[in-house]
Amino acid sequence: MTIPYPNTQPMPAIAAVTPPSGASRPRVTFLGTGYLGATYAICYAELGYEVLGYDVDADKIAKLNAGEVPIHEPGLDELLRRNLAAGRLRFSTDIAETAEHGDVHFICVGTPQRADGMGADLSYVEASVTSLAQHLTRKALIVGKSTVPVGTAEWVEQLVGKHSPADLGVEVAWSPEFLQEGFAVDDVLRPNRIVVGVKSEWANGMLYAAHKGLFDLAATEDREVPMVVTDFATAELVKVAANAFLATKISFINAMAEVCEAAGGDVTQLARAIGYDPRIGNRFLQAGLGFGGACLPKDIRAFQARAQELGAGEALRFLHEVDLINLRRRTRVLHLAAELLGRRSGPAGPDLSGTRIAVLGATFKPNTDDVRDAPALAVAALLHKAGADVHVHDPQGMENARRAVPELTYEPGINEAVADADLVCVLTEWAEFRNADPSLLGDLVAGRRVIDARNCLDSALWTQAGWEYRGLGRP
Ligand SMILES: NC(=O)c1ccc[n+]([C@@H]2O[C@H](COP(=O)([O-])OP(=O)(O)OC[C@H]3O[C@@H](n4cnc5c(N)ncnc54)[C@H](O)[C@@H]3O)[C@@H](O)[C@H]2O)c1
Repeated sequence: MTIPYPNTQPMPAIAAVTPPSGASRPRVTFLGTGYLGATYAICYAELGYEVLGYDVDADKIAKLNAGEVPIHEPGLDELLRRNLAAGRLRFSTDIAETAEHGDVHFICVGTPQRADGMGADLSYVEASVTSLAQHLTRKALIVGKSTVPVGTAEWVEQLVGKHSPADLGVEVAWSPEFLQEGFAVDDVLRPNRIVVGVKSEWANGMLYAAHKGLFDLAATEDREVPMVVTDFATAELVKVAANAFLATKISFINAMAEVCEAAGGDVTQLARAIGYDPRIGNRFLQAGLGFGGACLPKDIRAFQARAQELGAGEALRFLHEVDLINLRRRTRVLHLAAELLGRRSGPAGPDLSGTRIAVLGATFKPNTDDVRDAPALAVAALLHKAGADVHVHDPQGMENARRAVPELTYEPGINEAVADADLVCVLTEWAEFRNADPSLLGDLVAGRRVIDARNCLDSALWTQAGWEYRGLGRP
């Protein structure tokens, strides 16, 4: 169907719609209060909306209602407490209460990689949409925010048609999400764009009303938030296309790092030099241990799987290479560790038994506690499997890391982690590690050897302090 006005902000006059609840602005719910949904629920209350967050995880909901953010996200704690106190925000495990509250329901549940392949597991989307639809008693808009394969919104629309009373006229829209953990509060309150896939003017009007708080905030700060209004398929594709592009950029520079390693070049200087070209730009051009987390790896795999189903698999074959380049950086650190420690590699890989290695970092990037598909933790596990005695410290990710890879030794601070280490590996670029004093750490270790897998340390400073320093993609 043709959308009335594909456009960017400023938008043409949008039909003013009255929220079905009769409230002056739409009452909103967020189904799934993980990294995405909890941040949204809290930030939307901050914007003045009446918000209800729903989850099937009773512990998470109890924590949120008690004013405790279950994840580490800078700035979120204070906003949670303030908005709970203001009475605009509550959390529930009751789907009937959720259905009753909302005019606009945002679906924020997980879409992890399927256990049996590369595609996305949509069972959480199905469960949340089905139970919500069954409990709706008036018209509402269900908006998908989870990252999904193209075609999911149409399927969700069918699910809603099947499970909600037909006379209610419940509608569906899709609005992909681009927030970055570590910057999530600002990304939600000050998004660089909003993308919506809609089929009707009513849905468009409701979505506009559901974002008006963001537009009003932008106006007070003399900013504009571009809004792209499009069809379902394009809205779904925007998200995975953006992630595919970002993953490709990271793997591109990591491929250059591989070539630099073979040729004796320095990828950090190469990146700086090519990044001055405005057509290339210097963002996401930091060679290192590569991408991880709960989005990029699974999203590029699900994108390939879906393209294959659609008969367009060849168009995305390069993403397979992007994935492989990314994963090769992890084994590169293992082999570099063996090289620095003077260990030979056999057919089963290097033997690091009898060595003690400090791993600094467990999360997939700084300023989060998220260790899902974290390169740092994957490398720590590889080093352990090769026989090393691995001691890990991370400023925020210890609890999650311990749960994910219990066989490693976790230390309360940097000093404890590096004590008596033969090798220190900096695997996540936390400020605490970047700013560590190499002379002080040098007094604690058994051998002054460091792998800077994020190229985030001052190599001259570490070398002057007597460390044998190795960065990825550097001589
Ligand atoms: N984390 C990010 O930075 C980010 C950014 C953009 C997009 N996304 C996308 O957002 C989605 C959610 O990601 P996340 O990182 O917040 O995941 P998450 O695992 O942190 O949160 C998912 C939540 O959904 C809940 N849930 C599961 N089944 C449910 C059901 N039937 N009803 C209600 N809640 C249910 C879980 O208990 C969990 O709290 C994914 O599709 C992801 O790709 C995430």
